[in-house]
Amino acid sequence: ADGTVEIPVVVNVIYKTTAQNVSDARIAEQIAILNADYGGTNSDASLIPTEFQGVKAGDVKVRFRLVNTIRKSTTKTSWTSTDRANNTMKKASTGGIDATNPTNYFNIWVVGSMPDTQGSILGYATFPESAGTWKDGVVIAAPYFGKTGASAPFNLGRTATHEVGHYLGLRHIWGDANCGDDLIADTPTQTTANTGNPSYPLYNTCYGVKRSVMFMNYMDYSDDKSLYMFSAGQKTKMQSVTSASGARSGL
Ligand code: ARG
Ligand code: ZN
Ligand code: CA
Repeated sequence: ADGTVEIPVVVNVIYKTTAQNVSDARIAEQIAILNADYGGTNSDASLIPTEFQGVKAGDVKVRFRLVNTIRKSTTKTSWTSTDRANNTMKKASTGGIDATNPTNYFNIWVVGSMPDTQGSILGYATFPESAGTWKDGVVIAAPYFGKTGASAPFNLGRTATHEVGHYLGLRHIWGDANCGDDLIADTPTQTTANTGNPSYPLYNTCYGVKRSVMFMNYMDYSDDKSLYMFSAGQKTKMQSVTSASGARSGL
C-alpha cells in the first residue's frame, strides 16, 4: 500500500571448498543487510554528512525476501573473465545453475573466486535491459558475500547492495569516465572512483566546478564501511525500474 516492492530472491551457491559453500545463516545475514541498506535503516546512515541529508534516499521502498537456496559443487577453482563473459555459472550445461524464472525472481549466484588481471573482482550484475533473460541477476564472489566470515575490507555485505543497484538500473557514480555522468541529477559529478576509506569532505573539480563528492554512495568503489547511502534521484530511478511500466515489473 505504501508502494514498497518486495523482491523474491533465489540464491544459487556454486562451491568447491566448504568456505565457498556459504551457510544459510550467512545468506540470511546478506538479505538482512540488503533490507537495511534499501530501507535506509543501516546503522551507519547516521554518518551521512549534513550536506547530503537533503538528497539522501532514506527508504528506497524496495525489500528482499529469500524464497530458495540452490547449492551445487564444482571442481572449478575460479571463474575467469571468459567464464564471466559467457556467464558459465548461470547454465547447468556449463557447470553452473540455471536461473529460476528470472522474470519473476531475482537470482544471485555465489561463486568461489573471480580472478582478473588486477587481482579479483567482487561481483558483477546485469542491467534492467537483461530483465527475464537466462543470464539476468547478480554474481558475487563468496568472500564478499554476507558479513560473518567475509573478507575485509569488503565484509559488510555492500558488494550485494552495489550490484543490486546496477540490477535496478544505477550506474557508477563517476559515470565510468573522468568527470562522467551517472544520469542522476542529485549525485555530485566526481572525477573518478574512490577507493579505501576517504575522509570527508573530499573535493573534486570537474569542468571548472569544485564539488564535495559523495564517496559514501553505494555506487562508488569505497570500502564497505565507507558506503552508506543512496540518493533520492537513485531511489526514483530504481522505483521506475520496478514500477508497473518498468523493465523489472515482473518482480
Ligand atoms: N567492482 C564491483 C562492481 O563494479 C563491486 C564493487 C563493490 N564495492 C564494495 N565496496 N563492496 O560492480
Ligand atoms: Zn559496479
Ligand atoms: Ca550525478
